[in-house]
Amino acid sequence: MIFDTTLRDGEQSPGASLDINEKVQIARQLALLNVDVIEAGFPVSSPGDFESVRRIAQEIRGVSVAGLARAVEKDIDNAARALEKADKPRIHVFLATSEIHRKYKLQKAKDEILHLAVKSVKHAIQYVSDVEFSTEDASRTELDFLIQVVEAVIDAGAKTVNIPDTVGYAVPDQYAAIISGLKKNVKNINKAIISVHCHNDLGLAVANSLAAIKAGAQQIECTINGIGERAGNAALEEIVMALKTRQDFYQRSTRVATRELIATSKLVSTLTGLRVQRNKAIVGENAFAHQSGVHQDGVIKERTTYEIMKPEDVGYLKTRLVLGKLSGRNALKTRIKELGYELSESEFERAFEEFKHIADKKKEIFDEDIEAIIGIEKMEVPAIFHLESLTISCGPNAVPTAGVRLKLPDGRLVDNTTTGDGPIDALFKAIDLSTGITGTLQDYNIRAVTSGKDAMGEVHVNIEVEGKTIGGRAVSTDIIEASAKAYLNAINKIAVLKIM
Ligand code: KIV
Ligand code: ZN
Repeated sequence: MIFDTTLRDGEQSPGASLDINEKVQIARQLALLNVDVIEAGFPVSSPGDFESVRRIAQEIRGVSVAGLARAVEKDIDNAARALEKADKPRIHVFLATSEIHRKYKLQKAKDEILHLAVKSVKHAIQYVSDVEFSTEDASRTELDFLIQVVEAVIDAGAKTVNIPDTVGYAVPDQYAAIISGLKKNVKNINKAIISVHCHNDLGLAVANSLAAIKAGAQQIECTINGIGERAGNAALEEIVMALKTRQDFYQRSTRVATRELIATSKLVSTLTGLRVQRNKAIVGENAFAHQSGVHQDGVIKERTTYEIMKPEDVGYLKTRLVLGKLSGRNALKTRIKELGYELSESEFERAFEEFKHIADKKKEIFDEDIEAIIGIEKMEVPAIFHLESLTISCGPNAVPTAGVRLKLPDGRLVDNTTTGDGPIDALFKAIDLSTGITGTLQDYNIRAVTSGKDAMGEVHVNIEVEGKTIGGRAVSTDIIEASAKAYLNAINKIAVLKIM
């Protein structure tokens, strides 16, 4: 079972803060991702948290929605109220059990902790049948006391017992031994699900969670992109893909719709403002990009030589070969073909020599560089279709609409206005209507080429027409105009090739 705590522990990340609507948006995406439990927040902690748990509980169906509570009645009552409308409500009660926390934070003896733990579970069970109990700082708790608490809360009715590595102190073998110790010594352990919740202070959150699964844990608490308190929590995408990819070893599976992983990661990153590092496993920009020539050659011949997962399985479109100075002939040839060009052997050899020359000066070689290398950019692209003017109307409550006026090769002017999913979509559709050439947009990139508010925006598009992929580029301070011109630039190249 995948228990997602992006909206609770994840939101505890320094630097991240989400408003209610953003939390609801993420909860909807987590439901699409098909996690088993969404921990929506800590209702007593603030009115905003209460309201977001309430809204999520009211809206999300078919997924358990959990609210966190300390082992005090006020917290549990609050969580219960926030979860009133939930389809599958869960109250998640936590209380620290380790000596350090007992002595310095709670100033309570073992028997008081035991009493409070049982009392709070009994209180929560009056409201919901699904109660989870967390023994906070479990990995630093004496095993015999942990066994005592876990057994007592299961007797009191807890359906899930969570064994957190709250401070990320555990190491895999030791953490797995705690889980095995509980399985072996807690008499009623079969009446509850064992859950784990690992923090990443030593970079071991995922490794510890996986070791716990091997030892018999059935629920993993984790967050999208591994965000969370301090160094974060175990990353959901890494756990899920490790279980999927190494099913042979773990013999466990999840219900997660893995193709939603990238979309979920992007949404969480955009809304929290916490950027994902490029080399982050599974969801990082480089996770399926190959730079070395030897690797590129291998991947082109057989993907599995250097890829253990399919990019499509996590929601990426495809493997990315980063062309640069380490790339070999095979990678360049493949990309030239994908772009729709065919070169003779001698043309290709010349292009490859030029490519190596440029790659020495430039870190990454983009499609437009390749086109320049093989001469298509140098080939004068006559403006067969010329953009005379354009208008756009869009806004929060408007249907995006674009109008374009193009000059045709025979000098006639043609006007078309149409709507689309967004202003750019409408714009490109209006151009298609005017030129009679329909392009399928494969890639759209925009970047500032100068700085300041009046920066020049460079737009680069890749479109596919009748099986050929062709790039277009344009620069303007008006990014809508740059978009139209880049698209038209690609269409004009197609038109030239058609005439030739
Ligand atoms: O890290 C932790 O122990 C927690 C508990 C509240 C489960 O986040
Ligand atoms: Zn935590």
